[in-house]
Amino acid sequence: MTNAWRGIILLGGPGSGKGTQAAALAEALKIAHISTGELFRNHLKQGTKLGILAKGYMENGELVPDEVTVAMVRERLSEPDCAGGCILDGFPRTIAQAEALDMALADMNRQVMVVPLLVVRDGVLLERLSNRWTCRACGAVFSQFSRPPREGCKKDECDGELYRRPDDEPETQRNRIRVYSEQTEPLINYYQQRGLLVRIDGEQDVEHVREGLLAKVTAVTL
Ligand code: AP5
Repeated sequence: MTNAWRGIILLGGPGSGKGTQAAALAEALKIAHISTGELFRNHLKQGTKLGILAKGYMENGELVPDEVTVAMVRERLSEPDCAGGCILDGFPRTIAQAEALDMALADMNRQVMVVPLLVVRDGVLLERLSNRWTCRACGAVFSQFSRPPREGCKKDECDGELYRRPDDEPETQRNRIRVYSEQTEPLINYYQQRGLLVRIDGEQDVEHVREGLLAKVTAVTL
């Protein structure tokens, strides 16, 4: 390892639990959590040019163009909270993004340490996306099995309203899974060839996935 920068890429299909696990892992390892989906949703909420551009792609379950996404991540990586490392959730999603990330990190004398892959079957992904509720205020994610949506967020005293993401509608869910399989799954081989990929059974309950993930990641990053 050339430096101690802890770069982790969390791979997995839509609804595999990347957001749920990345937030907990970032807290445990005290490193930043970068979710490109969340960055785009924040831009959209603020009505920026980037948010307006991303909207159409997101609502159709398509990927936002690589050059736009890469520029946004490059900028985010240069922020002070990324100095010790970060967990990338939802990025890279194409081989071109992965190559651009390698270059951006090399420029900063950093590198990716480990790429955990959450393995979840398509049928389970569809079921999870159909039952997901997201907090409009803080972005926290819940399943309606664990929290009735009418109760609101309640995470860290947040009182936000829970809503269904527009891209969680059935038609868009299926397109997101198709896009994942065509454009993002090739990354499994990309990182396997570099000896960075570790597989995690993402169909276990949240706690077991978290324990397995933390064990595998700390074994590599400490
Ligand atoms: P993004 O927000 O990244 O969506 P995604 O990858 O499809 O992932 P999700 O957020 O849907 O799911 P997740 O894996 O985080 O699962 P979660 O933890 O929520 O991207 C949205 C869009 O932005 C893209 O479609 C694209 O348009 C654009 N975009 C983003 N990044 C881009 C990029 N790099 N390039 C181009 N475009 C990009 O969990 C799901 C549900 O399951 C929740 O209800 C949760 O409570 C539940 N759950 C989680 N774990 C478990 C478990 N172990 N057991 C039971 N339930 C569980």
